[in-house]
Amino acid sequence: MSRFTAFVYDRFMRNMEQACGARWRDELLAGVGGSVLEIGAGTGKNLEHYRSAAIEDLTLAEPDPHMRRRLAATLARSPLAARARIVDWRAEAVALAAASVDAVVCTLVLCSVRSQAAVLAEAHRVLRPAGRLVVLEHVASPDPRRLAWQRRLDPVWSRVADGCHVARDTARAIEDAGFAFEILTRESARKALPIVRPTIRGVARRA
Ligand SMILES: C[S@@+](CC[C@H](N)C(=O)[O-])C[C@H]1O[C@@H](n2cnc3c(N)ncnc32)[C@H](O)[C@@H]1O
Repeated sequence: MSRFTAFVYDRFMRNMEQACGARWRDELLAGVGGSVLEIGAGTGKNLEHYRSAAIEDLTLAEPDPHMRRRLAATLARSPLAARARIVDWRAEAVALAAASVDAVVCTLVLCSVRSQAAVLAEAHRVLRPAGRLVVLEHVASPDPRRLAWQRRLDPVWSRVADGCHVARDTARAIEDAGFAFEILTRESARKALPIVRPTIRGVARRA
């Protein structure tokens, strides 16, 4: 990710966050506690939505140095600062022991990783048996006409948006990786660009 992308990220997201994203993050993270790994933590948009009293320790993994710098600034203002650490791990290679975390949080990341299967296998590995994968992702549209547009625009979009792909069936990938959804909501993200409007959010457990 370029320095410029990191610089504009929060501004680019602002309208969607105000319209629906912040509320979705808040609802999703209300049930998250214990030992938590967040992958692709970006600029730290989830930090204000964790219920800090419920978090024992929080590992924020972000491989991009420009995003990481912004993440550090956000974390410094958070009540979680004393219980959180920032690491540069990619989500495909997490330096945590197997079955060591209660929750893996992944928001708007599975669109841009090279292999969803590799990332999800790693999330599965580090989660305790009763652990939860918490996701918010923009995905392939269920509407065939919009999906056709997503597929047409994907090669250009992924080039301008740092490898982000708009037509992935991420819910299926999560299930294929050995998770079962407890909650799965599909909803259009208001105030987002049309090709990234279809979203899923939910909580999955190791099946
Ligand atoms: C669209 S941003 C989302 C940031 C944040 N999770 C949010 O909800 O606003 C995608 C983030 O995923 C990170 N990322 C991309 N590929 C990754 C990978 N293989 N492993 C971990 N993070 C990755 C990027 O550096 C970027 O910070």
